[in-house]
Amino acid sequence: MSDTDENPKHTNHNSKNHNSKRTDHSDNSSHSDNSAVKSEASTKDHHSKRASFKEMMGYAKPHRWAFAGIFFCSLLGISADLLQPYLVKIAIDDHLAVGQTSTLFLVKLAAVFLGLAVISFIFTYIQNNLLQHVGQSIVSRIRKDLFRHISKMSMSFFDRFHIGSLVTNVSSDTETISSFFTQVLLSLIRDGMMLVLIIFFMFQLDPMLASYSLIILPVIAVVAALFRRRLRSAYQNARTRLSRLIAFTAENLSGMFLIQAFHQEDEQKKRFKEQNALHLEANITQARSNVIFNRTFDILGNAALVMMVWLGGRAVLGESLQVGVLYAFISYIRQFFQPINQITMQWNTFQSTTVSMDRIWNILNTRPEVHDPSPDQASPLESQHVMGQIDFNDVSFGYKADRPIIQHMNLHLYPGEMVGIVGTTGAGKSTLISLLNRFYDVNQGNIQIDGTDIRHIPQAALHRIVGLIQQEPFLFSGTIIDNVRMFREDITREQAIEACRFVGADGMISRLPQGYDTRLSERGSGLSAGERQLISFARIVVFQPRILILDEATANLDSHTEQLVQHALESVSQGRTTIVIAHRLSTVMHADRILVMEQGSIVEEGSHQELVASQGVYADLYQHAREAGQQPSKSG
Ligand SMILES: Nc1ncnc2c1ncn2[C@@H]1O[C@H](COP(=O)(O)OP(=O)(O)O)[C@@H](O)[C@H]1O
Ligand SMILES: [Mg+2]
Repeated sequence: MSDTDENPKHTNHNSKNHNSKRTDHSDNSSHSDNSAVKSEASTKDHHSKRASFKEMMGYAKPHRWAFAGIFFCSLLGISADLLQPYLVKIAIDDHLAVGQTSTLFLVKLAAVFLGLAVISFIFTYIQNNLLQHVGQSIVSRIRKDLFRHISKMSMSFFDRFHIGSLVTNVSSDTETISSFFTQVLLSLIRDGMMLVLIIFFMFQLDPMLASYSLIILPVIAVVAALFRRRLRSAYQNARTRLSRLIAFTAENLSGMFLIQAFHQEDEQKKRFKEQNALHLEANITQARSNVIFNRTFDILGNAALVMMVWLGGRAVLGESLQVGVLYAFISYIRQFFQPINQITMQWNTFQSTTVSMDRIWNILNTRPEVHDPSPDQASPLESQHVMGQIDFNDVSFGYKADRPIIQHMNLHLYPGEMVGIVGTTGAGKSTLISLLNRFYDVNQGNIQIDGTDIRHIPQAALHRIVGLIQQEPFLFSGTIIDNVRMFREDITREQAIEACRFVGADGMISRLPQGYDTRLSERGSGLSAGERQLISFARIVVFQPRILILDEATANLDSHTEQLVQHALESVSQGRTTIVIAHRLSTVMHADRILVMEQGSIVEEGSHQELVASQGVYADLYQHAREAGQQPSKSG
């Protein structure tokens, strides 16, 4: 019964994921114009599933000898199991029934029986371990490939696949596949073999009686299939009700202050009661179907047994059948139902596996949109020799073809220049930076660094040339040192510490419990935003990119840390081409040149003085900032 409960979980899990993917899908196509592609995709669904199943089975190939071993062990284990009733039959018919009852014989019989039990145990054990080993290594390889593949993907990939569903893919879809290899395949091999062997032994014993018992087989299969479907829908219903209940509860808890403020407690209590009642009902229905299924199966089994006793018993009385044969038959009939039950149960897991495999295969099959240049096109631009000249030549770009974000942008930065960019949210500042980092490729025009089109620079090299600091720097779990040198062993501890000193982070780091060896928990929680930012500055110093970009890097900082960061920025930007995007004018006002962006184009540019004097957008912004009291000291 516990198996019955457990199994559909995968199914449900998956159908849920499936839905969520569907939604992503339709989201996508409603933005773009390919609804035709979508319908084509759904008719191809079946075919693609089969294809991806085949492809995924490729992962099992290197393990074919292990599978042969599993097959062999199962065969031995099951045979040893199934020989036991046969042995008793021999004892009854050939010895006990003919009056040969010596103690020695009984001892021998017991010894053989025990031997069979031991053999069965040993081989089942080996088979199980082998299968677990194979299953887990297959899944671990799929996970590894998946992870490696996802980390190679371009940014546009992450716009299409949500991080949440990717996490599901890497964790629970691979888990489903794991259970396919360890449970479904096991069941197919073991239970299938068991059925075949039972039928074989039955025909060995008495073909007539065996044929009779086979009549009941289709009946059982049909009943099992019908019930499975019912069980599954009952299970899914219960799951849906539960997730609704959970969602309702979570929503209420997080909005509790609103509920209390608006005195909605009674109303919400009533709604909760309704949801809860529905959940209760669904659960009871599920439990009831479970019981009915299991009992029906028992009844069928017993009916078969009764039939056997009746037919066999009559034959024994008519002396056309030996008692031992009847005994063995009854034993086999009893063992007959378990494999059938198992196999129908695994069918559900099998189905959800094909869904999971399909999803994973889809990801593995997606090619990155941003390609590295082919070796003959690759530019030999070395990070340390880059001067830092940047040219955007007539660049146009849109995340979706029909919605251009940047149009015919021309922008030229000379080596070592510091440029500030200001503009409203959504103006396209970050998009510009993403293009420079080649997270996306431009639709038209080109971007050059020192006169080389960035599409000719291998991505790894490009990312060494361009250092990007964002609003929320990403810290990994690991020590401060690890985070500064990004786990690269060729950077010494001293270099890392030197870098922290350089950006003025050593004071704050030495106040931490273990100094530079303090382990940061997930994403550096426990440090303030400014402290995290300082660490990412030290990272930049260590890696010495020739071009430095700060995208709203100072947005969330209190004024004290902002000053620290501002100070660090001044040191770090020396001799580097630097682009600073900031809301606060204080961060950009000392730049060599300030650009004002609106709706994907540059509407004003010049130095702080020039822009203020020209009385345009920037002058307005500056005026507002002054009135709001944000006007910083000019010393900064
Ligand atoms: N990954 C994305 N997919 C689709 N549209 C995007 C994506 N990122 C940004 N946009 C859109 O591009 C425009 C410019 O955004 P962005 O460059 O982030 O502006 P800014 O950094 O100036 O606030 C906005 O309209 C935004 O909605
Ligand atoms: Mg932005």
